[in-house]
Amino acid sequence: MEKTGAAIVGCGTIFEQHARVLRAMEEAELRLVVDSEPSKAQREAGVYGCEWEQDYRTILERADIEVVHLCTPHHLHAGMAEELLAAGKHVLTEKPVAHTPEAAASLRTAAARSTAQLGVVFQNRYNESSRKIRETIDSMRLGRLLCLKGAVTWARTPGYYTENPWRGRWETEGGGLLINQTIHTLDLLQWFAGGEIERIAGSITTDVLGEYIEVEDTAHACLDFSNGVRALFYGTNAYLTNRPVELELIFEQGILLQRQDRLYLLQGGEETELCRPAQSASGAKSYWGVSHGLLIQDFYRHVRENKPFWLDAEESSRALELVYGIYEASRQAAGIRDSDRVQPS
Ligand SMILES: NC(=O)c1ccc[n+]([C@@H]2O[C@H](COP(=O)([O-])OP(=O)(O)OC[C@H]3O[C@@H](n4cnc5c(N)ncnc54)[C@H](O)[C@@H]3O)[C@@H](O)[C@H]2O)c1
Repeated sequence: MEKTGAAIVGCGTIFEQHARVLRAMEEAELRLVVDSEPSKAQREAGVYGCEWEQDYRTILERADIEVVHLCTPHHLHAGMAEELLAAGKHVLTEKPVAHTPEAAASLRTAAARSTAQLGVVFQNRYNESSRKIRETIDSMRLGRLLCLKGAVTWARTPGYYTENPWRGRWETEGGGLLINQTIHTLDLLQWFAGGEIERIAGSITTDVLGEYIEVEDTAHACLDFSNGVRALFYGTNAYLTNRPVELELIFEQGILLQRQDRLYLLQGGEETELCRPAQSASGAKSYWGVSHGLLIQDFYRHVRENKPFWLDAEESSRALELVYGIYEASRQAAGIRDSDRVQPS
């Protein structure tokens, strides 16, 4: 089988989740790693036995590279992806699709024009528990979904922000907890709820990290969907440890509960365990979810078979719209006028 040539741009924290998966895939070959800090690119090129570059634009000239993974700060996703897509390169970008709704809209246009595909890494959609929840909703086995809730209680230290200063800033991260850590859970909530988002209430605060970041470290939201489903959400980076994401879905005839990364069915007074999390093959931190490998392999399958990948610019924009909807709801709740807005440029 001829291998699909790959490059990864950004050799930081998440890089390894992509590089290890590529190394294990027979149908793909990591040919180039890129980082604006040459020492990082050089180091990873040594580990993975490939070439390295400092400027991602060199990829535009390389016929042997078909898929480019973007593992860069948020504000770089859309611009890099647009250039690469225009050159016919398939792009798999880390979440979020972009750092603002405006940048995401521009990227959607570029993706629609390109012959190549854009995929976005929402790996938790591939977790066995997520798939089982989705199947339960679609099959109506427990009747209609009525309401659901999600809670994310994680810890981020000051060093997490000070060591990588693009984090914690509106201009480069596009927000804080909501756009970076809890966008996965917000994506799941809206995917499970179905329907269009009709009403968003919520608020953001900076409970403990205000000395280091200008964005939020804590948020809550109440989301109403056009099909009558209501979702409640709470998230914080102000806990002192990283706990597994908790989910609860109330159906007409039963409850699904995700806790300790396990999925349970509560029905007729009985509690049944439906699944346990698979161990991460790529060494991912468990609270990130363990499904990078499944998503990356699925993206390459779609590229090879020339079939549209489902987590595209449109689909991944839904979670970003939700994030920005909560920012807007929070501003309105606080009575902040448009002229006072702190926003990315
Ligand atoms: N899916 C997940 O669970 C998950 C987990 C962690 C991070 N992420 C995402 O991964 C992305 C990167 O996050 P991170 O934590 O690895 O960040 P990081 O700061 O650790 O790494 C980013 C890297 O990009 C490099 N870089 C910056 N500008 C560049 C440029 N112009 N060209 C080439 N390289 C450049 C930096 O030098 C750095 O090595 C973000 O979108 C983040 O949200 C996803």
